[in-house]
Amino acid sequence: MPSLSPTVLEAAPTPRGPAAGVNQFHESALAQVAGAVHYIDDLPEVRGTLHAAPILSTQAHGKLLGVDASAALAMPGVVNVVLSEDIPGDPMLAAFAGDEPVFAMDTVQFVGQVVGVVVAHTAMQARHAARKVKLNIEALPAVLTVQQALEAQSFVLPPVTVRRGDATAALAKAQHSLHGTLEVGGQEHFYLEGQIAYAMPLEQNQWCIYSSTQHPGEVQHWVSHALGIDNHAVKVECRRMGGGFGGKETQAGHLAVWAAVAAVKTKQAVKLRMDRDDDFMVTGKRHPFAYEYTVGFDDSGRLTALQLQMAANCGFSADLSGPVADRAIFHTDNAYYLQDVDITSYRCKTNTQSHTAFRGFGGPQGVILIETIMGDIARALKLDPLDVRLRNLYSDEAIAGTDQKRDTTHYQMKVEDNILHPLLSKLELSAQYRRRVEAISAWNAGSPVLKRGIAITPVKFGISFTATLFNQAGALVHVYTDGSVQVNHGGTEMGQGLHTKVAQIVADELGIPFARVLCTASDTSKVPNASATAASAGTDLNGRAAQFAARHVRDNLAAFVCGLDGCGAGAIKFKGGEVFSPVTTRSFDEVVKLAYANRIQLWSDGFYRTPKIHYDKTTLTGRPFYYFAYGAACTEVVIDRLTGESKVLKVDILHDVGRSINPAIDVGQIEGGFVQGMGWLTTEQLVWNDKGYLSTHAPSTYKIPTAGDVPEHFKVDLWPEPNREDNVFGSKAVGEPPFMLAISVYEALRDAVAQARGDDKLVRLTAPATAENVLRALQSGA
Ligand code: MTE
Ligand code: HPA
Ligand code: MOS
Repeated sequence: MPSLSPTVLEAAPTPRGPAAGVNQFHESALAQVAGAVHYIDDLPEVRGTLHAAPILSTQAHGKLLGVDASAALAMPGVVNVVLSEDIPGDPMLAAFAGDEPVFAMDTVQFVGQVVGVVVAHTAMQARHAARKVKLNIEALPAVLTVQQALEAQSFVLPPVTVRRGDATAALAKAQHSLHGTLEVGGQEHFYLEGQIAYAMPLEQNQWCIYSSTQHPGEVQHWVSHALGIDNHAVKVECRRMGGGFGGKETQAGHLAVWAAVAAVKTKQAVKLRMDRDDDFMVTGKRHPFAYEYTVGFDDSGRLTALQLQMAANCGFSADLSGPVADRAIFHTDNAYYLQDVDITSYRCKTNTQSHTAFRGFGGPQGVILIETIMGDIARALKLDPLDVRLRNLYSDEAIAGTDQKRDTTHYQMKVEDNILHPLLSKLELSAQYRRRVEAISAWNAGSPVLKRGIAITPVKFGISFTATLFNQAGALVHVYTDGSVQVNHGGTEMGQGLHTKVAQIVADELGIPFARVLCTASDTSKVPNASATAASAGTDLNGRAAQFAARHVRDNLAAFVCGLDGCGAGAIKFKGGEVFSPVTTRSFDEVVKLAYANRIQLWSDGFYRTPKIHYDKTTLTGRPFYYFAYGAACTEVVIDRLTGESKVLKVDILHDVGRSINPAIDVGQIEGGFVQGMGWLTTEQLVWNDKGYLSTHAPSTYKIPTAGDVPEHFKVDLWPEPNREDNVFGSKAVGEPPFMLAISVYEALRDAVAQARGDDKLVRLTAPATAENVLRALQSGA
């Protein structure tokens, strides 16, 4: 496995303090590798805990005429069967569109929809019995593809159009034009810890829910809505997830509600842990997309017009499809200035799982389209694809005949922090792109079967929740009388290192060692109304809130020391576990003890909301993002023209995380995001059969990348400049943007196919570029 290359550490920004800016271990890394941390299924079970398993629809669409649970109820260990009629509150889930039942009622809408749960003494008993429940379903016609949905005008939400200028007129004037279609597949999250919830009834209809969730507040809201009780009666806790990747932003809530409803009926604590196959069958995935576009461009390869129809396969309900499809629109430009644009986005309703958030949140589906177009323009004009990309980047250049610059997005946000030109130039040089293009073509000339390809693609990713209201966060910092510190914030830990970064920030704010700060489980009874940990903004939001909370405590202590020493508050410094006043130096612990004895408040809250952002939801114009995160990747691949197999050989990445709070964690996010994106675009193929049954529902048939697929040459450098916006410690969000760097794999594969074919035709490569799809691309062309 590749490890941190030395260049990464050299390029790492200077430390912010002794705790931040350095490669602190992930706060639970050692315990995790020792198997000593608790995921939900490791928590001690309370006496009488029962286990639930879901009963799944066997039809893609139909009338649910009856449920016969008699055989299941007769199975060993089975306690009860729980259906829609057992829900004490609203049988519709509190999802924002109100279009999802908790359990299917009179209709079923996809194979795998949960009709109810079987509750038994053990999980295996419940699972076996769930298979014995007979569903009487009268089949109805099902819509299974975006094409069928478009024909039937089957939508979960109305279409959205974003326009700038006059794309039709610009196309008519264009020197060249291209028309094309593209299909890009979905993706299973494949978090290592599957979805799980553990619902515990407490006294007086109060509840404690342990949930593997990115959004404890949403779980609280959904459970209280389904149980018909106040939010304040439900506490949701999550210490960590074994991965979420967007798949636990909403989907975790369903399990929690199912477990809670089962607990109401059985009057016992109920745990619901789905096995991998059920998790595949029940939960939503990345949205598959289909596109049809016409682009106009000039002789230099500069794009002059884009007409685009993009259709998202949303599955049977809206879930997060609105904001996901919006983000796809927002990222159709990626790094490029699109002058006359006309984009229509369709949110297609199909009889499949309800597709949901997945790393990038629609961004990847926008970026891959424009990168495909850049590659096609280059091939059509016989130009180097990097030159075409460079020519189209956002810049300060004036638009001919106007006083406007090529620096404003199609949704009217000015790109103020553009570093695309220097970043791409630096990568072009460090990866020796030009020299390798020539070397590869020489190599290919002597290699009849194996053919190589190379591509550089950039990323510009907007940071903030597009729903402005979610960009708020809270935190609590508690200093105990021994000088140790607990921090609690509204974010959740899913392996991305959020708790580590927040603890680093708090440690530096109080001038104490990292080890003195403990970040505790996300808990709706500590910080209320927290947003999902999503949109990569976990550290930006919660880190700042925690910084403010720590600052309040520090200010209390500083004022107290001033009183003791008779100096001004600004004179007090907190550093290295010591508190310096002009008069004397005391240890932090000593100051805390003295302050406690003098009745000084040793804990505080902090609250943050992202400044500057605003946008109009109907026209999708404004400034939805506080700033952009940038990056670029140079990828070299090899394909076998006889089998279609491919391998990623070399990857060089230059990525912008601002002034890194933890370079090791950031590099880990970049590597992990890239490899996950590579899986999306190469081996991870979801196949629904003609009955709407997902036939790839286990690792035997659904292939995520393994350690062996990680490229041998995998170099990650960090861009050495702080965030130009005032973000916590000058850092930038890192969770999602690197995912889109993997589009360079797809573009390199298309280059290899073009080189193998040796003709002038464009390469039509359906994503994921499985061996079959690469073979198809080798054999047919536009
Ligand atoms: N990294 C790990 N190890 N596990 C995860 O589940 N989720 C990704 C990213 N990196 C994820 C991850 C997604 S989809 C997002 S939005 C961010 O982490 C969320 O965390 P952050 O906002 O703290 O970066
Ligand atoms: N990103 C991720 N998750 C979200 C968003 C977003 O922009 N909006 C709502 N949930
Ligand atoms: Mo990430 S898809 O925003 O959870």
